Amino acid sequence: MGTDPAHDPMTRTARDGTVVHLRPVRGDDGPRIEELFASSSADTIFNRFLAPLARLEGERLRALTHPEPGTECALAACIDVDGRERMAGVGRFRRVSAEIAEIAIVVGDPWQRHGVGRMLLRQLTLMARDLDLQWFDSTIDPSNLRLLRFVEACGFKGTLKYDGGLLHMRTNIAALFPVELRDPIEDHPRP
Ligand SMILES: CC(C)(COP(=O)(O)OP(=O)(O)OC[C@H]1O[C@@H](n2cnc3c(N)ncnc32)[C@H](O)[C@@H]1OP(=O)(O)O)[C@@H](O)C(=O)NCCC(=O)NCCS
Repeated sequence: MGTDPAHDPMTRTARDGTVVHLRPVRGDDGPRIEELFASSSADTIFNRFLAPLARLEGERLRALTHPEPGTECALAACIDVDGRERMAGVGRFRRVSAEIAEIAIVVGDPWQRHGVGRMLLRQLTLMARDLDLQWFDSTIDPSNLRLLRFVEACGFKGTLKYDGGLLHMRTNIAALFPVELRDPIEDHPRP
């Protein structure tokens, strides 16, 4: 990927030593997003899309690879596998009002629990603060305990409301990643 990780603020080292580069999603990322989808379990796909999708195609894939300028921010967490860039995860938010953005994050099953989700949420949080956003909204399946554990580990403060069989989570952006919350990735030495 041609960047010196020690001097690139968008590059991190995952817990297993893998170098992860965060970059904006691009219009030509369709094949990489499809590959990420293919590497994900049915459970991960359901929790991300709240539907049992068999594949990504058409307008849905186009929307995922073409964030709306001025409204949406989408970040890919990329790794190098045998000299080829692959996506380990993707995080995005879409501004829906002056203070609120809807957020979604997915990490492919092979890369879960290595700190990639935390990297994505941390960077999206910094970007949202720059835009003076106050809240991240997300709609999640009530059985999605790993997401609840995940946001708790990132300093979740906000509200959870059960409605229509789904949980509506509103997260205070200012409260995420408080200094007292130790971040294993930030502690990890850069390569
Ligand atoms: C939720 C999700 C994004 C987390 O990504 P991840 O890269 O695995 O998370 P991280 O490795 O950064 O985990 C950070 C912390 O969250 C907590 N956590 C994450 N996954 C967890 C799990 N399965 N069980 C318990 N705690 C978990 C842990 O405290 C973890 O820190 P630790 O590993 O040092 O203990 C990932 O599980 C995922 O893609 N799930 C499916 C899609 C989804 O539900 N998206 C959200 C709705 S849009």
